[in-house]
Amino acid sequence: MANVLLMPYPCQSHINPMLQFAKRLASKGVPAALVVTRFIARTVRFDAGKVRVESISDGHDEGGLPSAASVDEYVERLESSGSASLATLIEEGHFTHVVYDSFMHWVARTARGLGRPVVPFSTQSCAASAVYYYINSGLLDVPPPEDNAGVRSEPFAGLPGLERWEFPSFVFHDAPYPALTAPALAQFADQDVGDWVLVNSFDELELEVLDGLKRHFKARAIGPCVPLPAVDDSGDVDRFTYGANLLDPEDTCIKWLDAKPPRSVAYVSFGSNASIGAAQMEELSRGLLAAGKPFLWVVRTSEEAQLPRHILDEATASGDALVVRWSPQLDVLAHRAVGCFVTHCGWNSTLEALGFGVPMVALPLWTDQPINARLIEEAWGAGVRARRDASAGVFPRGEIAQCVRAVMEDEDGRAASARAAARRLRDAAQGVLAPGGASDKKLGDFLEFACAVMD
Ligand code: UDX
Repeated sequence: MANVLLMPYPCQSHINPMLQFAKRLASKGVPAALVVTRFIARTVRFDAGKVRVESISDGHDEGGLPSAASVDEYVERLESSGSASLATLIEEGHFTHVVYDSFMHWVARTARGLGRPVVPFSTQSCAASAVYYYINSGLLDVPPPEDNAGVRSEPFAGLPGLERWEFPSFVFHDAPYPALTAPALAQFADQDVGDWVLVNSFDELELEVLDGLKRHFKARAIGPCVPLPAVDDSGDVDRFTYGANLLDPEDTCIKWLDAKPPRSVAYVSFGSNASIGAAQMEELSRGLLAAGKPFLWVVRTSEEAQLPRHILDEATASGDALVVRWSPQLDVLAHRAVGCFVTHCGWNSTLEALGFGVPMVALPLWTDQPINARLIEEAWGAGVRARRDASAGVFPRGEIAQCVRAVMEDEDGRAASARAAARRLRDAAQGVLAPGGASDKKLGDFLEFACAVMD
């Protein structure tokens, strides 16, 4: 019998998709365990179902989560402390296979050293993965520095032509977190990447890009790895289970939403690690007020000092705006009062919005977000992208207000079409995960592969 260990990079947006995949393995009767750091295992409540949560040391067992500023240092420490701890866990836990976050090559090296088959799992869009792969293989050029701003790459293997700022930022050595450039580029280059590369996507989302990748390695789309409910157009939602919340969601959100009319609220969040800066916070505050819709805005504790509260005072006092430090995002997206999601286009947030059929206003910041924003607007029509003012380096208030109105107001035009597109993809997502659907079948194939390796 296979006994699968899954090792995500220890942060909110990588743990959850791999935990969802682990839950699906466990639901087919395969023992599965998710590895996190000792600190996370001790402090976070997991809704892991039959999946066991195991832990290794990141060399800082009493410490907290790494701050954005210390990611480079953390990546190195996690590897140096984690490899020995992980090797012990694999041996003592009698794990037969290791599914690892494709950004973490050291996990593959450790497991292979112990003779275990390894399978990379990509938590990002295939479009982002494809850019990394093609650049690393010399098939696509890294755009030169700014002097050719506005020039697009040629469309390639299902990818649209991309402007420099739309390339996933880890391809640039001068971007934040240079420690991640090499691992990001080499994710699928490993000679031993064998018959399985798991990607958190599905055909209806990224068919052409997937087909392009499949010519080079065995990308298998097993997504969307998000907890999807059964939901119908009347807005009735069956229960779903979270994976893990690394921060505590505020209860006030749902009560506040309960008092709002259907589809009247803009939900605003930039995920678990982005920092938008004071100037963008002001533009966003003024843009949301100008859009004239009630809004629920997640501003994490680390960002609070930059929030221009005086601009929002009147709206928060009257109940037209609510600012929270962390939301129960799935419950929020599932709520009938939510009419759009103003998002940074993190891949999980994107899949979650689609999973609940909520149209998006894309305000992408860095890493894979700009390319995900292209998909949202151009490939799927499930939302609109705000245009950045390049000289000011922000999405201006007028642009934000106009985009929010575009996806919330005109029920016969863009809003209706964005909502219809999001709902179509919601239904497709449910279809691929249902018994016999494409992603469910690939899960079955994966289990056959795992058991065959055992024989
Ligand atoms: C990071 C990168 O920024 C992103 O671009 C990449 O695709 C994945 O890694 P993050 O910025 O955290 O992720 O964004 P995202 O992938 O959207 O994940 C955020 C997660 O936090 C989502 O699952 C979302 O449901 C959850 N969340 C966010 C909450 O539960 N509550 C909140 O208030 C905000």
